[in-house]
Amino acid sequence: RRLAVFASGTGSNFDAIAAEIERGAVQAEISLVVCDRPGARVIEKAEAQGIETFVFSAKDYPDKAAYENELLTACREKGIEWLILAGYMRLIGPTLLEAYENRIVNIHPSLLPAFPGKDAIGQAFDKRVKVTGVTVHFVDAGMDTGPIIDQEAVRIDENDTRETLQKKIQAVEHRLYPAVIKELIAEEVVQ
Ligand code: GRF
Repeated sequence: RRLAVFASGTGSNFDAIAAEIERGAVQAEISLVVCDRPGARVIEKAEAQGIETFVFSAKDYPDKAAYENELLTACREKGIEWLILAGYMRLIGPTLLEAYENRIVNIHPSLLPAFPGKDAIGQAFDKRVKVTGVTVHFVDAGMDTGPIIDQEAVRIDENDTRETLQKKIQAVEHRLYPAVIKELIAEEVVQ
């Protein structure tokens, strides 16, 4: 199964998925890394592993359809079957949603539908909720709104800071995301 990982930042989830593939635990290949922030760390990480990258700046295009059409061409050329969003900070538009229906997944650092959008960890921390967590879901046109595939809870302890909470959440993400991807691609009926 050929995956494209979409990321905008440090790429720790990219690392976790790549490591599980390397170990043979996930039967897939990351054939493309898509990044909308030139200079993001995930780009170096992908290059270090010999993975092709598609790096773009949205401002160089007239609209979302324009860059998504280029992206779609790149994904099709590489035979990409799944789009894996891992810290990709843009909404997916109709071009990719239609071409990859039910084949786009995202990870979000809260128990959705609580705390969608930016800084979900900070939002949970500020509200003083006692339990937050991680959600993996299918992507639709909304922000963090698609059907939920799996979730795992993380407790916020009295002595947690934002930083310690973030570490706990990331540890869960790095375990949960590869496991969900493994299941999704294994369940798929080969046509
Ligand atoms: C993760 O917390 C993910 O849940 C969110 O963005 C963050 C990406 O982190 N959507 P990284 O780039 O994978 O380290």
